[in-house]
Amino acid sequence: NLGVITIPVIVHIVYNTASQNVSDAQINSQIAVLNDDFRATNSDVSQVPSLFAGVVADVEINFVLDQVIRKQTTRTSFGTNDAIKFDSQGGSNVVTPGTHLNMWIGPIGGGILGYAQFPGGSSSTDGVVVDPLYFGTTGTATAPFDGGRTMTHEVGHWLNLRHIWGDGRCNRDDFVDDTPRSDRPNYGCPGFPTTHCRTTDMTMNYMDYVNDDCMYMFSAGQKERMRALFAPGGVRESILP
Ligand code: ARG
Ligand code: ZN
Ligand code: CA
Repeated sequence: NLGVITIPVIVHIVYNTASQNVSDAQINSQIAVLNDDFRATNSDVSQVPSLFAGVVADVEINFVLDQVIRKQTTRTSFGTNDAIKFDSQGGSNVVTPGTHLNMWIGPIGGGILGYAQFPGGSSSTDGVVVDPLYFGTTGTATAPFDGGRTMTHEVGHWLNLRHIWGDGRCNRDDFVDDTPRSDRPNYGCPGFPTTHCRTTDMTMNYMDYVNDDCMYMFSAGQKERMRALFAPGGVRESILP
């Protein structure tokens, strides 16, 4: 048992317009949401229906802001091809990816909230990207994605979580036993119960596609899958002190 794991974070603010140069307060609001969501100290966890209350997990990971890098760019959008992660493409180079979680905050475009790299990819692109419109809970954050949950979702991917519906049909798996099967994402703020594949969807899971206000839990199985990365020989073991 590793106890509470601390992940040091590097934040790259890659801005074109002045408003995209988000404040330290907005950065801190995001770190605070992560620390609530990964410790199950978020106030909305109380809304989890009794059907799923038994599998709500305190993931026992916390996040500490280590460094903020601010860089102005002439690019007005970056898309999802990782250009934001390279000085040579108008972005900002990754910093010590073996020991830190790198977060790039910059204009993605195309209505995309964020994206992440799964464990095991190239170290030069390791980390998560979130658009400033969906980052933190203050400043440029925009409803209904102004609860900081885009980052919670992306860090879930960075820690090996798949979408809750397994990105497929009823029998396509997210490799987690205690998340019910489903065949589609849910959007907006679904009622309870919402049923697909003859089981009640865990729509309030961070790895679904609902609004920030309507997602408020990780499951015990997801916790186990994330923390396996930090076990001896695990892909993210080098983060540990
Ligand atoms: N579409 C993005 C992804 O699949 C993020 C979705 C985040 N959802 C949210 N309610 N903030 O990685
Ligand atoms: Zn996703
Ligand atoms: Ca499952």
